[in-house]
Amino acid sequence: MRAVLSKAPGGPETLVVEDVLDPTPKAGEVVIEVKAVGINYPDTLIIEDKYQFRPERPFSPGAEVAGVVEAVGEGVKGVRKGDRVIAVPGWGGLVERLAVRAETVIPIPEAMSFEEAAALIMTYGTSYYALKDRAQLKAGETLLVLGAAGGVGAAAVELGKAMGARVVAAASTNDKVQFALDLGADNGLIYPSGPMDKAAQKELSGEFKLATGRDGADVVYDAVGGDYADPALRAMDWNGRYLVVGFPAGIPSLPLNLTLLKSVSVIGVFWGAAVARDPKGHAANMAELMQMYADGKIKPRVSKTFPLEKAGEAIKALGDRQALGKIVVTVES
Ligand SMILES: NC(=O)c1ccc[n+]([C@@H]2O[C@H](COP(=O)([O-])OP(=O)(O)OC[C@H]3O[C@@H](n4cnc5c(N)ncnc54)[C@H](OP(=O)(O)O)[C@@H]3O)[C@@H](O)[C@H]2O)c1
Repeated sequence: MRAVLSKAPGGPETLVVEDVLDPTPKAGEVVIEVKAVGINYPDTLIIEDKYQFRPERPFSPGAEVAGVVEAVGEGVKGVRKGDRVIAVPGWGGLVERLAVRAETVIPIPEAMSFEEAAALIMTYGTSYYALKDRAQLKAGETLLVLGAAGGVGAAAVELGKAMGARVVAAASTNDKVQFALDLGADNGLIYPSGPMDKAAQKELSGEFKLATGRDGADVVYDAVGGDYADPALRAMDWNGRYLVVGFPAGIPSLPLNLTLLKSVSVIGVFWGAAVARDPKGHAANMAELMQMYADGKIKPRVSKTFPLEKAGEAIKALGDRQALGKIVVTVES
């Protein structure tokens, strides 16, 4: 089978497509014929050895896949050949066939395409865990989402609305803000795309306050970091919750005095680790997300697809800040 491989640390241009042996399912495993692979920011990091996990090389990036169960290992119950499923292996997904533990696969509803399914779990899983379990977002509260047109950001916009919040979307271009407004955000603003000095940060904080309303945001969803974090923290309301989700713009330092003045909680979000520690909580969240999908409250937006042999270009497009919603790699075997 074909596999996209990282054989040395580096950018997407270092990835190669090679023929490798097909996997066979060990006891308790199933082999999925992969149809679509969701691309996520961690794919840009893992191939450069900059992610929390450093798999042994050669390895394939690709954290989440959708496809059809092709073979079932000994002792597997509840998953059958021919089932349409999602799996989130973390890496290893940019291949034609993939072996995973049977208990980790999630069935796909009939109405859901493979592209949508491959774009669902990491982004909505992360944002739902962040908003529901970590921030305990309540109906009527104001949620400010940074990077609101990106993968996890767009999911946070939709979920924020589904949870009854007033959502303010912030992003770096007019198209991105419009994209988030089309997803249901109540208000939006464009922030500068480059680094900011103190004066520019102060100005942005004023714009955040204007857009969120007199008292500021109850919850900030920050999957961007960098110079955007300080202005967002300054635009928070009393008892606010600041969600630390990711740092494509750099790892910021926050002035802790601001958290004291507004009684703000800064809350770390590590969805992958939370899934491993609390599989039952994860399963419950997945069931709720599937119900929201069935009710039409959420819908993964796949704005661009690439074939498997162009997976490097897909990862580059995401790293270059080009994604609107999700980029997905489709696999034809
Ligand atoms: N904590 C967790 O459990 C968890 C889980 C999944 C993902 N994440 C993290 O969440 C972040 C977003 O992931 P994603 O998959 O949603 O990525 P994505 O689709 O690429 O979205 C990232 C957004 O960051 C903004 N950005 C600002 N500066 C950037 C820069 N220099 N380079 C690239 N983007 C920049 C872009 O929006 P603008 O152009 O509008 O600024 C972009 O839309 C990543 O840091 C990822 O590692 C964390």
